[in-house]
Amino acid sequence: MDFKLSEEQILIRDSARDFAERELLPGVIERDEKQGFPPELIKKMAELGFLGMMVDPKYGGGGLDMLSYVLAVEEISKIDASASVIMSVNNSLVCWGLEKFGTITQKQKYLGRLATGEIIGAFCLSEPESGSDATSQRTTAEDKGSYYLLNGTKNWITNGNIASAYLVMAQTHPERGHRGINTLIVERGMKGFAVGKKENKLGIRGSDTHSLLFQDVKAPRENRIGADGSGFEFAMETLTGGRIGIAAQALGIASGAYELALKYAKTRKTFGKPIAAHQAVAFKLADMKTQINAARLLVYKAAWDKDQGADCELSSSQAKLFASQVAVDTALEAVQIHGGYGYVKEYHVERLLRDAKITQIYEGTSEIQKIVISRAILKD
Ligand code: CAA
Repeated sequence: MDFKLSEEQILIRDSARDFAERELLPGVIERDEKQGFPPELIKKMAELGFLGMMVDPKYGGGGLDMLSYVLAVEEISKIDASASVIMSVNNSLVCWGLEKFGTITQKQKYLGRLATGEIIGAFCLSEPESGSDATSQRTTAEDKGSYYLLNGTKNWITNGNIASAYLVMAQTHPERGHRGINTLIVERGMKGFAVGKKENKLGIRGSDTHSLLFQDVKAPRENRIGADGSGFEFAMETLTGGRIGIAAQALGIASGAYELALKYAKTRKTFGKPIAAHQAVAFKLADMKTQINAARLLVYKAAWDKDQGADCELSSSQAKLFASQVAVDTALEAVQIHGGYGYVKEYHVERLLRDAKITQIYEGTSEIQKIVISRAILKD
């Protein structure tokens, strides 16, 4: 493993940092309060190539490696985790899944537009009664020959109301269990498709999370991704990569909270000296930095595995499990170091704490990551 960054990776990291500080920081508190993300900002992210970073340039993507993508997600998450989840879902769930498993026609029709940010994508697996237990899909996709008839509800869908292309998992052959699930591309505007309730969330409040309703939606047969019944495998393999993106998000949140706490601790004085000079605070900073560096190694290792084409199921779950815990712990300590200031919005750390929590929940809870990890280490 060599994590010495190439000139290109440094450039990407720096341009993401610059974008986050210049464009995302100014309105981040307002977006959190008002629960919205302006389309102009998404357009800017698209112009910088952040929405299709790993997609083949022939489809308009950046053709970059996973580590470059991780570096960009980390920088953006230091300031605005709502921006990075829009980016993460579009890149590592939707674009990656479509590029790996889609037909040439599907790629020509959707991938180019998704990679350039002309349209945004959403990944629709979770349901009111199927979150962690993802094999129990209640949404049905009845095979009608030239089309699939979709009925059901999806919940907690990131990009729910800003997307135009939805990758929807649904059960076609209930008797086959998870081997009967299909993934279908549903377009916004298809008859019977509706965007439901917007969630009022604890964190990542700028990002758009909705339920989706499908009532006799006719998804053309050519919109099925992969072979009949391969939808669950599609979801699992795509989520394996997606978890690296969320791990990078968690790493970024932790780093952002740490950097704010460090700055504050060097300037805020109590008992005649900066609080960083009190061992109680200095030791907190030492722990935070050590945990972040450890998380970074796991996250970069998972990205490196993926870039090598190696099996990254174990490393991605380990990275997500550890980095998300570090995000929560670090953000909590950052609030503590800020004292009363940490409890108010202007100092940003309370938002980072709220944002950190979701990284232990979406794309598989911490408990799910432990299932994946324990199975991998116990299988031999
Ligand atoms: N790659 C490819 N195939 C995989 C796989 C992987 N990583 N993991 C499992 N599979 C395959 C297995 O090989 C098996 O196939 P066969 O039966 O054909 O051999 C099949 O999938 C079923 O696997 P399991 O028996 O392991 O299934 P399980 O019911 O025990 O569940 C689980 C496994 C890991 C718990 C899985 O259900 C899971 O990951 N759940 C969490 C779902 C999740 O992450 N949801 C997040 C929603 S998306 C989201 O949050 C996006 C967003 O908007 C931000």
